[in-house]
Order: sequence, then structure tokens, then C-alpha cells
Amino acid sequence: MALSFHRFDPSPCGFPAPRAPLLPRFSLAGAALGAPARPGTVFFRRESRFYRRGRYALLEAFRLAGVGPQGALLAPAYHCRTMLDPAQRLAGEVRLYPLNADLTPDFTALAALCAAPGAPVRALLLTHYFGFAQPAAVVARWCAERGIALIEDCSHAFFGEAKDVSGQALVALGSFGEFGTFGTFGDYAVASPWKFFPCADGGVLVANRGAVLPAEPARGGAAAELKAEAKAVLGSLRGVGRLRGGADETPEQLHRRLAQLAATPAAPAVEGVAEDGGLSPHYRPEDEGLAGLRSSRLLMRATDAPRLIARRRRHYAAWAQGVAGLAAARPLHPALPDSCVPYMFPLLVEHPEFHFALLKRLGVPIWRWDEMARSACPVAAAYRLRLLQLPCHQDLSAGEMAWMIAAVRAVLELPVPGGAP
Ligand SMILES: Cc1ncc(COP(=O)(O)O)c(C=O)c1O
Repeated sequence: MALSFHRFDPSPCGFPAPRAPLLPRFSLAGAALGAPARPGTVFFRRESRFYRRGRYALLEAFRLAGVGPQGALLAPAYHCRTMLDPAQRLAGEVRLYPLNADLTPDFTALAALCAAPGAPVRALLLTHYFGFAQPAAVVARWCAERGIALIEDCSHAFFGEAKDVSGQALVALGSFGEFGTFGTFGDYAVASPWKFFPCADGGVLVANRGAVLPAEPARGGAAAELKAEAKAVLGSLRGVGRLRGGADETPEQLHRRLAQLAATPAAPAVEGVAEDGGLSPHYRPEDEGLAGLRSSRLLMRATDAPRLIARRRRHYAAWAQGVAGLAAARPLHPALPDSCVPYMFPLLVEHPEFHFALLKRLGVPIWRWDEMARSACPVAAAYRLRLLQLPCHQDLSAGEMAWMIAAVRAVLELPVPGGAP
């Protein structure tokens, strides 16, 4: 059955550019001098494949697992479109499994979805949202018992370890000597380096327990490659020392600007439903099977990973402390486990139609998965607009962190027009 998607087009709102970077930017401070330390991650493995984005790595994983006209995919009901695009591209049926409030899979529903009429289920996509561990060993066993391939989505979890609630490292089913680290539980695992490193692209595919890797991705022509590499390097250099604005605004200026914005509502976004679930505009079939940039790989390897990890964790803790006590919002995960290297800070807001627009108009960098396939999952339905993804990456300055936290607090403390505070 074709998927239908919620649509959310913010173009009428005229949101300004963010005043702090949503993703890491190149800085000399972030580069590793000498031999870089390599904290546990399978995504630097020699036997891996490097594509332009994680979505093209997912395409290969789904294909090898048998997703297509003869094989369905179980995918989480809370998702971004590029998680599903590859399955749609393969003409595979996507069955959306519901999630609990902490975004773990609802196991009772999984079994029913597996038994539903249609093509047999060949793969299950398990996402470690925001860098927080899913019960990966349990899901891996569940899949193995049913002959279903587990595709571990580590797009948000380049580093870190899956631990159970008692803090014990979980043991993966395989034997790569990297037990418990993300990416060792799935038959295939996929990562998105561009979310963790200041690189222009990147999507890594690894295989475990004897699963076969596809052929090496193709390289473009020499001239086209050189142009793309030069563009990426120039883009990185332009980020160095770029004025970002947020950190320069005093609290008084921020509050004055907010009062003005709150007094003049923005044009509303265009919302609707797209009945034919085609590919998203972010999926480019012409990029399938192509290798990511060499400069991206270089930047990954030249990044000071221990610094990256420490700063992401510190920024996450600053967010958690900064939003504590707010009545109109709460963090999805207030506590940061020792083993977690967060991708973003997920914040649930009570009145997204009011809060989201004001935050965007202030210039707070936010991602949100407002374009999502329709499903019966109440958590996905609620989180689609309520769950804001706020940056906590290593390249944010102390001033930017302080400004973003002040902006979020100021917006969330405003009385909501026509509603309870
Ligand atoms: C959880 C998750 N999985 C997979 C993807 C696809 O990865 P990429 O953007 O590298 O194609 C994304 C994209 O943002 C994502 O958020």
C-alpha cells in the first residue's frame, strides 16, 4: 500500500537564517593534531562502504536484505522521509511500526505487522534516535528468530555504546570484538558522518555476521570529482570564523526582539496531506551508488573525536539544565547515559504552533520531522510537530549555547495566546 505523507511547507512564514549553526562547521580547534584517537566506532572500519549520504547506504542495505516488490520493510512510525525513500525507490512495501513514548519499538505491534497480508517482511529498520540506544540486542534476537534482516540506523549514533537499563554493555550477536558499540547489532548498519563531522557529505555502510557488502561505490569523472571536492573544501573554509549573530545579542536585545515578534504573528505554514507517497525532494536517484567525497573522509579522520564527544555531552547537559523547570516543554531524555554521544537535544513542546514559529523567527536553529508518513501511531502523531531537535554539536561556542538556551526559555515562558500557559 502506498504511503501518504503529512505535508508542512514553512515558505510563507519567511523564517530567517539560523543565528547559530545547526551542524558542525570546520574549525582548527576541532582538528586532531598528531595521531588521532579513535574511540570505539565501527564506522571507521576498513571493510565498509562510503556513499554520499546515509540514505544511499540504506538503499544498498535494504536491497541486499531483499526489500523490493517481493519483500516488505518494517520501519519506525516516527521518521524523516529519507529513511523511507530508499525502500520506496526499491518498490518495497513499508509497514510502519508504532513506538512507545521513549521511541522504543512497540513489540506487541511488531508481531502483528509481520503477520499482516502482503509480501513477507525481509528487513526491520531500528533507529537509535538522537544517539540514545535502542534495545538492540533484543530486537536483533527477535529478527534472527524470524529470518528478518536487522538494519541498524546509526545516523544519529556515530559514536557510543548500547547499554541496557542497568548500565551493562549489551553484547551484540556477532563477533567483531566491538561488542556493545552501535552498529554491531544489525546485519547492516548505516551512519551519517555529516551529522557529526564538519564534512559536506557521507554515508557509511557496514555489514556484520557474514552479511555481504555491495561492490565499492562508483567514482564520478575526474573533473566532476575535483570540482565537487573543491566546492566542499571552500564551503568548509567559509564556515571558519563566520559571524553567526546569536552569540552577539544581549539578553535585553533578545527580549526586545521577541516582544516585537510576538506582537506581529507570522503567516501560517501550509499544511496538508500528499496522498501519493513519492520520493522526497531530498532523495536524488542520480546519487545512488556513488562514493562520498574524499575530503569528507579526510575530515572525519582529522577530527579530534574525544573533543567532539566531550563537547557534545557538555552541550547536551547544558540544554537539559537550561530547560529544567519549564512548564511548556520537557526533554525527551533528561538524563544522558555515560555511553551516549548525542546528535541533537530532543525537546518536546506543548504548543508547537506557537513555540516553533517564534523560535524559528528568532533565528534558533531547529530541525523537526514535520513531513512524515501517516500512521496509526499516536506517539509519531504527537511528536511530528512537538519534538524539536536542537543542536548540541562540538562546534557551538559558549556564547551560542547561552544565547540558544536563553531564546528557548524566553519563548517557552511566554503566555500562549488563547490557551493555558
Ligand atoms: C535517523 C535517520 N536515519 C537516516 C537518515 C538518512 O541519512 P542521510 O541524511 O545521511 O541520508 C536520516 C537523515 O537525516 C536520519 O535522521
